[in-house]
Amino acid sequence: MENAAILKPLIAGNWKMNKTLASARELADAIRAGCENITNVDVLICPPAQLLFPMAKAIAGSRIMLGAQNGHEAASGAYTGEISVEMIKDTGATHVIIGHSERRQLFGEMSDRLSKKVRAAATGGLNVIFCVGETLADRDGGQTTKVIDQQFDEVIAKEIPADRLTIAYEPVWAIGTGRTATPAQAQEVHAQLRSKLIKTYGASEGDKIRILYGGSVKPDNAEALLREADIDGALVGGACLVASDFLSIIRAAVTAKA
Ligand code: PGA
Repeated sequence: MENAAILKPLIAGNWKMNKTLASARELADAIRAGCENITNVDVLICPPAQLLFPMAKAIAGSRIMLGAQNGHEAASGAYTGEISVEMIKDTGATHVIIGHSERRQLFGEMSDRLSKKVRAAATGGLNVIFCVGETLADRDGGQTTKVIDQQFDEVIAKEIPADRLTIAYEPVWAIGTGRTATPAQAQEVHAQLRSKLIKTYGASEGDKIRILYGGSVKPDNAEALLREADIDGALVGGACLVASDFLSIIRAAVTAKA
């Protein structure tokens, strides 16, 4: 099922564990200057947690939005090293990424935990970018559809407010590898996710939930990916650390969805 409606694209930068204060300010300032006149794309930056407050200041008064890369499900307490939904909101951030494959693979976050995190964040007033994606072994074994179904079904349900939800399809084999899914490969999974969103939320709400593609999105492949009907934006890793590359991807979204 393809989405006939064109949604306003969202280009999100996942800074991962990169940048310290000075270089983060430089990057934010350059992004801010470069997208001053772009109104038809939503722009989000997700710096590491310690940079949320200063980056909120750096983008204040601009259209750039701020997000965290992770958030804990508990309101407060003895959770060394974690950050709560309220703390994220306290910085001025409006978004949080949950279930990134690095959290799943390197930090052992499984669906039961992710389910709690998505619910805590969405009901606590954050916009959630929930990531799904298959490994290379899954894809080579013909398991992509099954894995995506499972990752979605184990976490997403109607009680999560649709207007707080964004899905990101990030094939694990394409993250940080320079290997991108072809637009057709990505669209196939996005169409699957669109059907699942419609089944969960009904057509009018399910069609409005953005589905981002992530995995080696670069200035030279962004437009072709974003031209696909159900690719409503991008979650960008490596290329978001260089302002000119991130801005090129933002401009590609303008062109692709014009
Ligand atoms: P990448 O990362 O663009 O460096 O592949 C994407 C992501 O992990 O969100």
